[in-house]
Amino acid sequence: VIAVDLFGQPADYDALGVIAEREDLFVLGDGAQSFGATLNGKKVGCLADVSTTSFFPAKPLGCYGDGGALFTDDDDIAVIARSIRQHGKGQQKYEIDRVGLNSRLDTLQAAVLLAKLVVFEDEIENRRRVASAYDQALNDDVIIPAVLPGAKSVWAQYTVRTKCRDQLAAHLKTAGIPSAVYYPRPMHLQGAYLAFGAGESSLQVSERLSQEVLSLPMHPYLPSEEVERIGEIVCSFEHS
Ligand SMILES: Cc1ncc(COP(=O)(O)O)c(C=O)c1O
Repeated sequence: VIAVDLFGQPADYDALGVIAEREDLFVLGDGAQSFGATLNGKKVGCLADVSTTSFFPAKPLGCYGDGGALFTDDDDIAVIARSIRQHGKGQQKYEIDRVGLNSRLDTLQAAVLLAKLVVFEDEIENRRRVASAYDQALNDDVIIPAVLPGAKSVWAQYTVRTKCRDQLAAHLKTAGIPSAVYYPRPMHLQGAYLAFGAGESSLQVSERLSQEVLSLPMHPYLPSEEVERIGEIVCSFEHS
């Protein structure tokens, strides 16, 4: 089972774990958007058999180019992952055991990450402050994001829902406020995966949400006054 921690909070790993155990499957957690988040006090990275994250600049802990990491406490998987990371390398130098990749974390990116790790916890706190300010500013005007009981989000995105999504995005744009749709087309309707799913109307919740979601500006240094201003502009649309 591949679980994706969307918008900064962990998926429901307790529920998924029960299903995986019953069906003799393992859980791979995609923590690209949730690195730093917790579920019932446990950090992302140790919630699934194997977890991954991304250090792409747009992520909560972003470097200045490409980067990522994989976490597991399974020694056998760790050996294989390290091998794949480096061209399928075996135990000895120039010994190739499998078809691999070049997925080493570049030294310069690692240096950037080490520096940014120092302020990472503060940045997460700031993101939480921004999210609470949005919660207050928006109230009932749009559907605000819910966080799973026991979860603490790192707020990679602050994503609201409204049936008038495209009109609201246009209204914000007129006021000079950027917004983004994550994601306009669900996975089962993507060309690459069409053959594996049951097509249109087969996953109606995903399809509806892809029409309704809108992510508002979110970063750790967004001033509260700016969040209030964005809130007022959203409200002025709803009430117009
Ligand atoms: C949920 C999720 N998974 C995976 C990725 C891919 O990350 P990367 O491009 O670093 O491999 C992203 C980034 O866009 C993401 O948001």
